[in-house]
Amino acid sequence: MTLTETRRQAPPAVVATDLTKVYGQGDTLVHALRGVDVSFATGAFTAIMGPSGSGKSTLMHCLAGLDAATSGTVHIGDVELTGLSDKQLTLLRRERIGFIFQAFNLLPTLTAEQNIRLPLDIAGNQADQVLFDRVIETVGLRDRLSHRPTELSGGQQQRVAVARALISKPQVIFADEPTGNLDSRSGAEVLSFLRTSVRELGQTIVMVTHDPVAASYADRVVFLRDGELVTELAAPTPQSVLDTLVRLEA
Ligand SMILES: Nc1ncnc2c1ncn2[C@@H]1O[C@H](COP(=O)(O)OP(=O)(O)OP(=O)(O)O)[C@@H](O)[C@H]1O
Ligand SMILES: [Mg+2]
Repeated sequence: MTLTETRRQAPPAVVATDLTKVYGQGDTLVHALRGVDVSFATGAFTAIMGPSGSGKSTLMHCLAGLDAATSGTVHIGDVELTGLSDKQLTLLRRERIGFIFQAFNLLPTLTAEQNIRLPLDIAGNQADQVLFDRVIETVGLRDRLSHRPTELSGGQQQRVAVARALISKPQVIFADEPTGNLDSRSGAEVLSFLRTSVRELGQTIVMVTHDPVAASYADRVVFLRDGELVTELAAPTPQSVLDTLVRLEA
């Protein structure tokens, strides 16, 4: 069986069912998510898009167990998040989920290599040296491992953040505007590393972005409007994404 066939048969990595999130109460009530049903295939790269305030970050935070939904369920693999205690959620995030944020969140006093190994060190796990080498090759950081974040470009820092997310082989990586702080060349670099990690390492990635070019690196784009999932695109191009966004904002 090829890698693609294996992935096609795998159950989805993340499933949200009838997910609702309400903030505030009375006059300040906001329905950030209104009954979202969505699933994210294993080994696929999916982008979440939509106008400002449409619920993208809220959806990602609920999917990643960083925020509790008001109702509905989220499964990461076979684990349902809704029933978990805070302690169980913390463990699940540590063991099954990788994060990449807009601000790189690297520790300034640690070298690139120490930053990359940090999640494993925290969990008390040894790095799989073969995987470590593959990740370093994939993100092209071999000659930068002993540098501290201030000695790296923005794109290189974000690649360290990507490597750190990949190294613990998470079931899924959630990325919120991972290229938002980068110039277009560094952004393209980081996106092609994310793309490569999906192709070569079978990584599952869910990425929130405003940028049609960034979204075109994904296998699939889902679009939110007013807290609802309204449409999706397979094999997106910058133009097809842009056309869909224009229709949504109209
Ligand atoms: N903590 C909160 N308290 C109250 N309302 C909130 C809170 N967080 C988000 N909202 C509201 O929920 C809605 C969805 O917000 P969310 O941050 O998910 O949007 P978004 O699609 O990520 O937007 P952007 O593209 O601007 O980042 C918005 O109307 C927002 O004002
Ligand atoms: Mg947001």
